[in-house]
Amino acid sequence: MTKVAVIGVGFWGRNHARVYSEIEDVELVAVCDIDRERSKSVAKRYGCRAYSDFKEMLLVEKPDAVSICTPTTTHFEITSEVLNHGVHSLTEKPLCSTLEEAEKLRDLAYSLGLRLMPGHIERFNPAVGRIKTLIDNGALGRIILITARRVSRWPERIGDVGVVKDSAIHDLDVMRFLIGDVESVYAKVGSLRHRFEDYAEAILHFESEVTGFIEANWLTPRRIRSLIITGSEATVSLDYISQEVLIEDSEKVLQPTVKWEEPLMRELKHFINAVLGKESLLLTADDGVEALKICEAILKSGYKGERIYLR
Ligand SMILES: NC(=O)c1ccc[n+]([C@@H]2O[C@H](COP(=O)([O-])OP(=O)(O)OC[C@H]3O[C@@H](n4cnc5c(N)ncnc54)[C@H](O)[C@@H]3O)[C@@H](O)[C@H]2O)c1
Repeated sequence: MTKVAVIGVGFWGRNHARVYSEIEDVELVAVCDIDRERSKSVAKRYGCRAYSDFKEMLLVEKPDAVSICTPTTTHFEITSEVLNHGVHSLTEKPLCSTLEEAEKLRDLAYSLGLRLMPGHIERFNPAVGRIKTLIDNGALGRIILITARRVSRWPERIGDVGVVKDSAIHDLDVMRFLIGDVESVYAKVGSLRHRFEDYAEAILHFESEVTGFIEANWLTPRRIRSLIITGSEATVSLDYISQEVLIEDSEKVLQPTVKWEEPLMRELKHFINAVLGKESLLLTADDGVEALKICEAILKSGYKGERIYLR
């Protein structure tokens, strides 16, 4: 049995606890939250032990791996401590609140030979995998544009980073996965109702000469999470929520069957297999760092009104 624990069991961490409790050959030994009542109630529900101090939990339980689902500004300190205890970590996205911290964590994980995976969950959306296959098979022809829209009301619990590092980061990671590295960005960002930026529109120039466009905000009343890729032979669109894919060419519109699967289940199973050495990590600390590099370039471009080059 692989022993795992979840640190931070608020809105998202309790999903990690539920999913781990459902994976065969994985034992959820503990959950930890500074909110004692929360920790106890989640532990009771999934039949494990409750802690309010993660350092004590690491010493007593000696887990093989943890998920860190605490607020973003705590990721650096908690993940460093976890790695220094020799424990593999799936740290929720964004890997850290700054690029500088993320680079330090990446270096620490590599120097200790431990797995550090950022929680870029959309990579595990089955519909994204379907689109990757279409691109790799050349079904779209030459790709010219990839457009993502991720808009919703403000999730009130997120109060330590803005919409770029909290939300647009998912699309940045998917775009890197599908299209490759970004060369430069030009963006507009601003804040209408929140302390951090609550809207961002960014044009990305990829090294492969594809153009990307991302619209992210916490102002739109309805939750929309979509991706459209335009190529010389076909256009493909995806709804991240329903996991529906639509392929259109000059003659027909196709809707291939993509079996709905919970992305978090696929993500955590992959993480455990990587911890056990059965699979090599698909999503590394370098991916977490690269995504934050683009986020910071978007913010810099937005505030300076200039195109920012990443390399
Ligand atoms: N991958 C995804 O799709 C996804 C979705 C939602 C949230 N997230 C990420 O997960 C993280 C948490 O978000 P959330 O929405 O669950 O927030 P939340 O506020 O609901 O939960 C955070 C929990 O962490 C606890 N906590 C804070 N400091 C702690 C500490 N030092 N030790 C132990 N527990 C501590 C809080 O008491 C709280 O229960 C964020 O980084 C967010 O970006 C990722």
